[in-house]
Amino acid sequence: MTSAPEVLILGSGAAGLSAALRLAQAGRRVMVVSKGTLASGSTLWAQGGISAVLDEDDSLEAHVRDTLAAGAGLCDERAVRFTVARGPDCIRWLVEQGVVFTHEEGELRGQRLHLTREGGHSHRRVVHAADATGRAVETTLAELAASHPNITVRERSVAIDLIVERTARRVLGAYLYDRNRKRVEAVPAKAVILATGGANQVYLYSSNPFGASGDGIAMAWRAGCRVANMEFMQFHPTCLYHRESRSFLISEALRGEGATLHVPTPDGGVGERFMPRFDPRAELAPRDVVARAIDHEMKRLGVKHVWLDISHKPAEFVRSHFPSIYAHCLSLGIDITRQPIPVVPSAHFTCGGVITDLHARTDVAGLYAVGEVACTGLHGANRLASNSLLECLVFAKAAAEDLLQTLDQMPPPPPLKPWDESRVSDSDEDVVVSHNWLELRTFMWDYVGIVRTTKRLLRAQHRVDLLKREIIEFYRNYRVTHHLIELRNLVLVAELIVASALQRHESRGLHYTLDFPETLPEARPTVLTP
Ligand code: FAD
Ligand code: SIN
Repeated sequence: MTSAPEVLILGSGAAGLSAALRLAQAGRRVMVVSKGTLASGSTLWAQGGISAVLDEDDSLEAHVRDTLAAGAGLCDERAVRFTVARGPDCIRWLVEQGVVFTHEEGELRGQRLHLTREGGHSHRRVVHAADATGRAVETTLAELAASHPNITVRERSVAIDLIVERTARRVLGAYLYDRNRKRVEAVPAKAVILATGGANQVYLYSSNPFGASGDGIAMAWRAGCRVANMEFMQFHPTCLYHRESRSFLISEALRGEGATLHVPTPDGGVGERFMPRFDPRAELAPRDVVARAIDHEMKRLGVKHVWLDISHKPAEFVRSHFPSIYAHCLSLGIDITRQPIPVVPSAHFTCGGVITDLHARTDVAGLYAVGEVACTGLHGANRLASNSLLECLVFAKAAAEDLLQTLDQMPPPPPLKPWDESRVSDSDEDVVVSHNWLELRTFMWDYVGIVRTTKRLLRAQHRVDLLKREIIEFYRNYRVTHHLIELRNLVLVAELIVASALQRHESRGLHYTLDFPETLPEARPTVLTP
């Protein structure tokens, strides 16, 4: 395909690729852009699975209930019901595309899927491909997209900004920075789907790949879209604590299959199992509860990690259910069938984002947001495990359906203003970018983490202000680079997170502050307007 795309899709994770395939399979011309390779993003690294009601003893109502409970009163119930009801159909769609999931032992392929369990779920309802579900989904969809005649793929291209007709508030395309040619191009399209993932690299320690720099949230904000609930950054309770591998996730499915959390003894051994002291659901409480409990125990005892132990399960069970985690830990000298795993919480998921309706439409006409970049109302104050990939699939379908009905009535974009580089020069100060990147992520980790106070938030706000001014000046004077684009977005996202956290005068879900420890009777989203 060589002519301009009808739909420009920024991002090639589960959200971007499934939207692209649904549109392309219906005959529309799309371009998919990834700042890395096509198969990339957090999706590629997803482990546990995708939640959907597929067991006859389970019910949509139970999945709705669990999602609402995890969301701590802040979910939009309409979005929850919408998503949960469409889950089973989206899993069938993935199977039709060729994604191979794990089946019940002894069953033939194509019959009953094996369902695992994760925190906050009252039933087994997590469909998975062993412990590398994201890889199975992402590589299958990427292969289909790469060979589809209606899809143009742009790898190593970083979207800098959306191009918006301000009076009509309509999107016209986007500026893309080509990392190979080091050139910026204006790409026109009738509609744009933001599928750029989350912003978890705003923290020093994160389970996410480096590209999770909140680009879509920042671009949408600059384009005039509202964002919501940015204070609800989810920390996954169990990332590996190892000097050679600080961001590797140890799936919640281990706890779903019986792994327990323990404090270290003074000599480093496996001590008391502590979760029952914090919550009757113990290790299977929602993530905010488990991450806070771990943080509490680490601070109380002055230790650098806690232990996650699954060594009481048969070795063959552990190896076959968790082959990637087993192999990764073994490569670092930890045999998880015999030894406990040192774990710490890490930034994992952005519950807030660009506000969308049930068609994935944003405040700007023709602009959609799907996946982790969006705030649909599904997650509220804390996401239920394995509801994210589900949200990507359900809202990609909703966006595609809406576009299939509206694309023909949308006006073609006018000629676009080329990118202006007349006043900039090449920078010889790359160290400024890397230094600011580290500084930002360090103070966000220290001041805007699992437990917050107003004083720390104000301190972070002050630092964000200073850094933002420096970064904007740098951006105005020097030619863009991949990392400068990301840093400009990260500092803006940090500003939105801190501003949202300062507005919330209560503790709810993932936002816990010592200054307002109570939960208010009425749950309200934090909506920021540009
Ligand atoms: P991503 O998959 O993150 O993809 C983002 C895409 O956008 C990438 O292609 C990237 O290159 C591109 N991009 C970003 N910015 C730009 C830009 N400026 N220009 C061009 N391209 C850009 N969720 C579950 O439901 N179940 C799980 O088991 C699970 N396990 C997880 C394990 C790990 C280790 C991690 C990190 C997350 C996990 N999650 C899980 C969360 C889930 O994987 C993500 O929320 C989900 O994959 C996000 O999908 P996405 O399509 O929105 O974005
Ligand atoms: C995990 O496998 O623990 C991650 C699941 C998720 O983030 O939903």
